Amino acid sequence: MGVRCALFGHPVAHSRSPRIYQTFAEQTGQAFDFELVDCTAESFPTALAAFAATPGARGANITLPLKLDAYGQCSARSARAEAAGAVNLVRFEGHNSILGDNTDGAGLVRDLRDNLGVPIAGQRVLVIGAGGAARGILGPIADCGPAALIVANRDSAKAELLAARFAAQGIRAAPLARPGAAFDLVINATSASLDNKVPEVAPSALSPDTVAYDLAYSDDGQTAFTRWADALGSASVHDGWGMLVEQAAESFEAWFGLRPETAQARDRPQQ
Ligand code: ATR
Repeated sequence: MGVRCALFGHPVAHSRSPRIYQTFAEQTGQAFDFELVDCTAESFPTALAAFAATPGARGANITLPLKLDAYGQCSARSARAEAAGAVNLVRFEGHNSILGDNTDGAGLVRDLRDNLGVPIAGQRVLVIGAGGAARGILGPIADCGPAALIVANRDSAKAELLAARFAAQGIRAAPLARPGAAFDLVINATSASLDNKVPEVAPSALSPDTVAYDLAYSDDGQTAFTRWADALGSASVHDGWGMLVEQAAESFEAWFGLRPETAQARDRPQQ
């Protein structure tokens, strides 16, 4: 009976996750099938339950726009998934048991701090967006001890709700048009890059000292947001490729108990 894992989301056809897991599988000698399941919020609960009931099913990643829905489908959740209210990783354990976790924040922090050498402690950090991705990263970034952590969103009420949720960790909400004086680190946690759009955040949020990071990724490392931030003269711009690889490594460890080495998978695919 072969081991099976999957990615649920919409869209998923162009996901690079299968390639990353293939690298990990070759590296560790762990054989498994990885499937892409394109589904809507309506079809997701049935699709997840059907997959979980398949012989050999070990676990799954959940990507946008289903991370909040995935939270509700789990029978138990890790502390970081509870804190985020969003799930991007599940592990199946026995009959009807779906364990939910959130590795977005750990993957982002590992990429920023360990791979890119970008400090978070003592820095002014702006997170743009208030969906499932933003929820996953706010707590882990706050845990790194930034001097300020501001969340701003197109729908400002959603940013206010998130700030209230994470108030104990000192996170505050601000309008996109007036997020505050220039930040050391600006993180785009919206899905705007998928539509080749840039959130309408005030350009004054960025300065020549700002590091700009987009959770979205592309094969050439450029997104609408990184291009925009680069044109504004940011110190450096990064897409979310490294984060994708790092959160995949966390998932792999959760499914197989082995921590893959990420340097090889972080090499971008040849174009
Ligand atoms: P994810 O799991 O990626 O967070 P999501 O939960 O669907 O996906 O959330 C999408 C986020 O991107 C939201 O914060 C959304 O803003 P709204 O809450 O105002 O809808 C944001 N977003 C998407 N397209 C955007 C755009 N063109 N400009 C600004 N924000 C955008």
